[in-house]
Amino acid sequence: MLLEVSGLRAGYGNVPVLRGIDFAVKEREFVGILGHNGMGKSTLLNTLMGRIRATDGVVRFKGADVTRIGAHRRSTLGMGLVPQGREIFPNLSVMENLLIARATRRGDPNGVIEEALEDFPRLKRLLDRRGGALSGGEQQLLALARCLCADPKLILLDEPTEGIQPSIIEEIVDTLHAVKKRRELAIVLVEQNLDFIAALAERVLIIQRGVLTREIPPSALADADTVSEFVGFAH
Ligand SMILES: Nc1ncnc2c1ncn2[C@@H]1O[C@H](COP(=O)(O)OP(=O)(O)OP(=O)(O)O)[C@@H](O)[C@H]1O
Ligand SMILES: [Mg+2]
Repeated sequence: MLLEVSGLRAGYGNVPVLRGIDFAVKEREFVGILGHNGMGKSTLLNTLMGRIRATDGVVRFKGADVTRIGAHRRSTLGMGLVPQGREIFPNLSVMENLLIARATRRGDPNGVIEEALEDFPRLKRLLDRRGGALSGGEQQLLALARCLCADPKLILLDEPTEGIQPSIIEEIVDTLHAVKKRRELAIVLVEQNLDFIAALAERVLIIQRGVLTREIPPSALADADTVSEFVGFAH
């Protein structure tokens, strides 16, 4: 197993949000986690990455217990996060955003950015553009390319379609397929967009109030009755 999570709990102050999360991700697997607003999706990814401290439970990555180590060290071990809202630097150019990511990586920096950009033809044409002047979809592509500069084995991807034009959502689907294939990556994607998750994930976990309540095959997401019965999503 690449990632093993057991009994994970976390919250804010003394308000619990994650109430015992158990799941595992294999090498090169693409797992979707579907949940409504406020169910704990971002809290889960931020806790897995070490941005939020776990109050209980264990996170193992490549067999090592990483529960108590910080985000930077998790990143050098091969975990990467593309956060909700993307967190790119709006006043820096696309290239400068990538240069900053490269600077945090260990090892030989040569070729890192060129390699990260291989599956991002659209970004290659925008290298001098200010991050803040990109469209939402372009910013999402930049956040993904930036994450790849650290050469992760697992990417935690937080609502990439949020606030993005439908026309570019398909491009993000294609980019993720290409990136995953080239790099033999595992991806954990949290989303509210059923079509997006169905197009990408090999299996789908449902999160409700800080607990993973069930697993469904992506094909079940096409069936409105199943979705409303099991997921409580009105389609
Ligand atoms: N910094 C914070 N301080 C206090 N409470 C927070 C904080 N961030 C999130 N919460 C609360 O924790 C719960 C889970 O939030 P979280 O952001 O993980 O949900 P989410 O599933 O990612 O939602 P969304 O789809 O809106 O991004 C919510 O009730 C939210 O209000
Ligand atoms: Mg969120």
